[in-house]
Amino acid sequence: MGKIRKAVIPAAGLGTRLLPATKSVPKEMMPIVDKPAIQLIVEECVEAGIELVVLITGRYKGSISDHFDVSYEVEDVLERKAKGELLEKVSHLSSMVDVVSIRQHRPLGLGHAVGCARPIVGDDEPFAVLLPDDLILGERSATHELVEVHQETGTGVLALVEVPPEKVNLYGMIAGERMDNRRVRCTDMVEKPAVGTAPSNMGIAGRYVLPGSVFSYIEETPRGVGGEIQLTDALLRVMREEGMHGKLLEGMRYDTGDAGGLVRANIAYALERPELADDLRAFMRRFV
Ligand code: G1P
Repeated sequence: MGKIRKAVIPAAGLGTRLLPATKSVPKEMMPIVDKPAIQLIVEECVEAGIELVVLITGRYKGSISDHFDVSYEVEDVLERKAKGELLEKVSHLSSMVDVVSIRQHRPLGLGHAVGCARPIVGDDEPFAVLLPDDLILGERSATHELVEVHQETGTGVLALVEVPPEKVNLYGMIAGERMDNRRVRCTDMVEKPAVGTAPSNMGIAGRYVLPGSVFSYIEETPRGVGGEIQLTDALLRVMREEGMHGKLLEGMRYDTGDAGGLVRANIAYALERPELADDLRAFMRRFV
C-alpha cells in the first residue's frame, strides 16, 4: 500500500466561539502552552511521514503562513544574542515540511474547503485531512493510527470517538460493524443528526485518510446540513462505492475551538512537559 505523502489542513473557519480572542488572531494561532495549535497539527503530519502540507486558509489568516516561513528578523536577533536553543525552535519550523496555502474564497463548508486542495493533491493518491480544532494527545498520533489502518485495509479511514447522546448533533456520526476493539467497518454516516436519531454513539473526530476519488464526489455534493457542502455527505458516497473504515482513537481529543476545550488542552499539554508539570500540579491542587 502506498505511503501517505500529502495532508490537507482546512483552516479557513472564523473561530466565532473564541471571540474576542479571534477578532484579529486566527483561532489556529491560539497558543497551546508555547506553540500555536496549528504547529502541533503540522508536527503530527511530520510524525506520520507527510511530506507536503496544504493549508486551506481565508481572509485574515496570513499569520498562519508566516508562522511556517523563515522569519529573518527574529532569527537574526536570536543569532546575534547567541540564543541557540530558541533559534533552533524558531528555525526548524520552516524546514520541517513543505507547507503551501490555498485560499478558500467563500465559506461554503468543510467539504468545499477540502475540495480546494484538489489542484495540489490530485485524484490519484490517498491523503490525510486534519481539522486543526481537534487536538489529539496520545502515545501515537491520530494520523499515524489512521495511516496504519489504511495500510491494512486500502480504504479511507475516519478517526472515531464515542459521543454522549446529547452531543451527537455536533458531529458526523457513523454506523458500523466492529472488527475488533477499535477498528470499525463503516456502514452508514450522517452529518450532525438530531439528538435521538444517531445511528450509533460513534462520531467522527477531525482526522481522515481519504482516497483521491473523494474530490469528484465533493464536486457533486449539494449543500447539506447548515446550508454547507459537507465532507461527511461526500464520504458517504465514497463509503458506498469503495468501502470505508474507522478507528476509535487511542488518544484523548480536545476541541480547542471552544474556550473550555482550549483551557483543557493547555493543561493536558503542559502536564506532558517535565519542566512545567510539577509546578502546575501543585498550583491546581489549590483549586480542586
Ligand atoms: C466537522 C465535521 C464533523 C466532525 C467534526 C469533528 O464539524 O463536519 O463531521 O464530526 O468536524 O470535530 P464542525 O466541528 O466543523 O462543525
